[in-house]
Amino acid sequence: MTIVDSPALLAKFLRAEHDISIGFVATMGALHDGHIRLIKQAKEQNEIVVVSIFVNPTQFLANEDFDRYPKKDSADKKICELAGVTYLFMPDTASIYTNDEVSLVAPVVKGYILEGMSRPGHFDGVLTVVMKLLNIVRPTRAYFGKKDAQQLYLISLMVKKMFLDTQIIAVDTLRDKDGLAYSSRNSYLSKTQRELALKIPRSLRIATSMIIEKRFDSAKIIKKMEEILNPLEVVYIAVVDREFNALTKVEISNTIILVEVLVGQTRLLDNIWI
Ligand code: PAF
Repeated sequence: MTIVDSPALLAKFLRAEHDISIGFVATMGALHDGHIRLIKQAKEQNEIVVVSIFVNPTQFLANEDFDRYPKKDSADKKICELAGVTYLFMPDTASIYTNDEVSLVAPVVKGYILEGMSRPGHFDGVLTVVMKLLNIVRPTRAYFGKKDAQQLYLISLMVKKMFLDTQIIAVDTLRDKDGLAYSSRNSYLSKTQRELALKIPRSLRIATSMIIEKRFDSAKIIKKMEEILNPLEVVYIAVVDREFNALTKVEISNTIILVEVLVGQTRLLDNIWI
């Protein structure tokens, strides 16, 4: 595995690899099994794999956890080495951003609802950094988790609208044994908070059983989920189609049910694809 911190050098290495398929996994580090799943899939489907670790300042709001975002560089390097990563890209902020920035703006509606409403500007930062990373790496395929469903949707849209030559691959959410979806932010949770957080997958399981019983009404599903999530602070629960339009009734094979809650100060999100 080669570790590179310079965008220009990484681009130079990669351009020298002619006619070779490149799989790319963008991360902010503190790697967990969910990331490893993305890397494994990238390895199965491509000749070489590039992983980036960059805690992107522009996707954090002023009051958020940028300064205390978990950092585990040496463990992350080992994980990538063992997972068979070819290039690990670890740039510093100054090599990605300068004072005279050109930034992307997320679509007005789809980028500013749900996660984009509770974190205004978040997706502008995500799209800007992902655009930069995709232009440096120019991957054949880039892998993103379905857990960040709105991010995945907006990145896929950006790739299409900007005519980028990369296939975006959606990868299923990986859950810990207790059902909680893997997230780097789970490390913020105390034992009691983790117990409480299990209400999130539970609420999604109940939503699934309602749908199996053909109870498709979105408002009723949301109400039931709110009951289960009580006393957690619900940021949003939403029933949307795969393009993030609100649905009053679940449509089989075209629905995502999303939930975001605050457990203490920690923002946790999860979803199911129906
Ligand atoms: O999902 C993440 O970890 C980040 O939003 C991403 C895609 C690496 C961009 O910083």
